[in-house]
Amino acid sequence: MQFQINGRVVEARDFPSHRTLLDFLRSQGLTGAKEGCAEGECGACAVALVTPDPAGSRLRVVNSCLLLLAALEGQEIYTVEGLSQPGTLSEPQRAIAEMGGSQCGYCTPGFAVALFAEFHRPGRSGPCDPHSMGGNLCRCTGYRPLRDAALSLGSVPETDPFQLRSHLPAPELAAFSLPHSDHPFERPATLADCLSLLRARPHAPLVAGATDLAVEANLRARRWPLLVSVEALPELRVFRDSPSEVELGAALPLSEIEALWPTAPPAFREWFPLFASPLIRNRATLGGNLATASPVGDSAPLLLAFDARLNLAGPAGVRSLPLSEFFLAYRRTALLPGELIVSVSLPKPFPECAAFFKVAKRPLDDISTLAAAYSLSLDPAGLITRSRIAYGGVAATPVRVPAAEAALLGAPWNLASVRRAQHAVAAALTPLSDHRGTAAYRLAVAQTLLEKFFYQSAPVEAA
Ligand SMILES: Cc1cc2nc3c(=O)[nH]c(=O)nc-3n(C[C@H](O)[C@H](O)[C@H](O)COP(=O)(O)OP(=O)(O)OC[C@H]3O[C@@H](n4cnc5c(N)ncnc54)[C@H](O)[C@@H]3O)c2cc1C
Ligand code: FES
Ligand code: FES
Repeated sequence: MQFQINGRVVEARDFPSHRTLLDFLRSQGLTGAKEGCAEGECGACAVALVTPDPAGSRLRVVNSCLLLLAALEGQEIYTVEGLSQPGTLSEPQRAIAEMGGSQCGYCTPGFAVALFAEFHRPGRSGPCDPHSMGGNLCRCTGYRPLRDAALSLGSVPETDPFQLRSHLPAPELAAFSLPHSDHPFERPATLADCLSLLRARPHAPLVAGATDLAVEANLRARRWPLLVSVEALPELRVFRDSPSEVELGAALPLSEIEALWPTAPPAFREWFPLFASPLIRNRATLGGNLATASPVGDSAPLLLAFDARLNLAGPAGVRSLPLSEFFLAYRRTALLPGELIVSVSLPKPFPECAAFFKVAKRPLDDISTLAAAYSLSLDPAGLITRSRIAYGGVAATPVRVPAAEAALLGAPWNLASVRRAQHAVAAALTPLSDHRGTAAYRLAVAQTLLEKFFYQSAPVEAA
């Protein structure tokens, strides 16, 4: 296979599908990227990937410990070694050094790459956003100097080579087969080819961004006899905003959805930054998040509140399934052997008010203890015509609570209605206790978040 590192074409041969880019970089002497955790938590391994952007292309920071090397065929990446010319530092590197943003230096290449990608963010006006480094951890410097470095940076000169590169498109992903006697990798470029592959090997695991799958490989030594990548399938990368629905491709990374959908309802715009870190969002997909069927996956509650439908394709053809019928049991979905999620459809009109809440040990970059999403529509008299109440982290699967939704129908949106729905929530949910929270805590939070939604969405009456 071939791809570009720091503007140079490199080749890699005869490696298994679970080999990561980080491993390859270090074997090539590019040791700026470090392994801190091997599970996407620290950003010490960060590199910048050239990705599609509405205006051309854009550098996005990603965790090289979770990037499968095979997925890079035809792609273009930059490591910390490629950010500057010999003897000079790039502006973000200079700012980090001058502000005292590095002590032992272990995390520094990762911070430098993250800030470099932010420095070159198309359309940026004003200083760099310190949250762009939100997926990078530092154990010794403290974040203040790094924040100062970000805030000290101005605009990028038009003649900057990375700026000029961003006017051109990102590499297009073509079909690719990685032969390997034990662990081959296939990246079909059409849905028809992918389905015929899956017809022959219906149990072959799919891979999209690999932010779940590569953790399994790195930490739990999972190996696959064949991996099938869905990254190059155009049908899984659609973004369509029509009068009747919004369709989100199952293999579009979350940050690309965010960039393509500036008119997304506020609940979605608040949801994006709460999902993992920028580095994870630059690879993680909706298809991967839903297919794992994690009870604490963050997309399911929000999508349930918007009545999402899944468009599925498999050996027996295509079908559309309400998301509310997708999760069958703990980590089990309605996907048939050889079937994949093509896209997620959100019907219009969207509910008039909706909200997403995530409760976790840390406000950002953490797994949910509990997530809740609510939506409501009211008639002109202020009576509730439609309500959705959905949770993650309170059962073996993400759930809706139909009894609580029914308790609101036809009623005014007031505290008495909230109380009725809270009782129905308490009666319906049977959360478990674990290291993130007890059952009693989860049950209490599930009810109080509904009240929080009320105070957010009906401020006049609440006052
Ligand atoms: C550090 C870190 C933080 C995280 N934080 C969060 C968080 O805050 N919230 C959260 O919800 N998750 C979080 N995750 C989990 C993960 O990022 C998400 O589940 C992500 O959306 C998975 O998408 P992916 O494309 O990377 O999936 P992959 O790892 O590529 O695949 C995951 C699974 O989905 C299957 N799959 C992928 N695409 C399809 C498809 N189109 N059709 C059918 N099956 C498919 C694969 O076969 C595999 O079984 C985190 C992960 C890490 C490592
Ligand atoms: S090594 Fe920690 S995120 Fe990759
Ligand atoms: S400078 Fe030591 S970990 Fe960040």
